[in-house]
Amino acid sequence: MRKDLLSASDLEPSDVEAIYSLADHLRAVPLSRALEGRAVALLFERPSTRTRVSFEVGVSQLGGHPVYLDYTTTQLSRGESVEDTARTLERYVSAIVARVSRHDTLERMAAAARIPVINALSDLEHPCQALSDYYTVREKLGRLRGVVLAFIGDSTNVFNSLALLGAILGVEVRIASPRGYGPSRALISRVRDLGGDVLVYEDPEEAVRGADVVYTDVFISMGQESEREARLRAFLPRYRVTEELMSRTGKRSIFMHCLPAHRGEEVEDAVMDSESSVVFDQAGNRLHVQKAILVRLAEEGHLRRRPIGLGRPAAPPRGPRR
Ligand code: CP
Repeated sequence: MRKDLLSASDLEPSDVEAIYSLADHLRAVPLSRALEGRAVALLFERPSTRTRVSFEVGVSQLGGHPVYLDYTTTQLSRGESVEDTARTLERYVSAIVARVSRHDTLERMAAAARIPVINALSDLEHPCQALSDYYTVREKLGRLRGVVLAFIGDSTNVFNSLALLGAILGVEVRIASPRGYGPSRALISRVRDLGGDVLVYEDPEEAVRGADVVYTDVFISMGQESEREARLRAFLPRYRVTEELMSRTGKRSIFMHCLPAHRGEEVEDAVMDSESSVVFDQAGNRLHVQKAILVRLAEEGHLRRRPIGLGRPAAPPRGPRR
């Protein structure tokens, strides 16, 4: 496994296999000392419920010490550079989990730090979410290869990571979006380079036909609040996941959402609360899978037991005896 997890495409199939097998074990045996003596910084520039709590609890359950940092109360908010922050944090902690507005902040942090940087959501990707989501699909359907996942709505950071990881895992990924809100050419090209594809539709009913999984996300992501009216006009009511749309899969499909949901916008209550909805199991699996990511990084030798520079003090320079 690479030092950093910034994109779902940083993972090899063997990494995913190892992470899922570790997650299975950590579900059964939640407490361990795998991170004993190690601190992990959780640096958040955007709000979070699931990611923050699951990482914080996960690090504690592994015997480590989570250090939550609200970006606005750090010196980053007063102009300290990302690089200087990374070089400082590596003196105290063994890994940085970061949620940022701009993906390039993560890239700069990872280039400057000698410790792992894990993407806890950026404007481009949410790899921890996608890893947990496919773990949930594997749990619910018993397989991943050949599964058809139809994503309805905006091509969000979550969609990008699902598409990239789907290519690695042999999942058929489809998306139905209004014109102008579909995936970028760059994303489709990266998915194709990984041996997969993204099937793009405008009609949600066509996209869900035969789908094993129907997935949606909010229409207005963090940072897009000023586009609210235009987005709601573009997406509603056609792209809302309803019981009627779920019935168009033609089979017993599962409904997924990364949460938080805006009930009544991208999904109706009847679907969120239906038997086919696995959204809270999805949220629960974040804990097991993210713990597994940390353990895998430790097993691969990327999580230093001692932070950089912590060891014997340097011997003072030798001079002539007096
Ligand atoms: N899905 C997700 O990342 O949730 P939070 O924003 O609450 O962390």
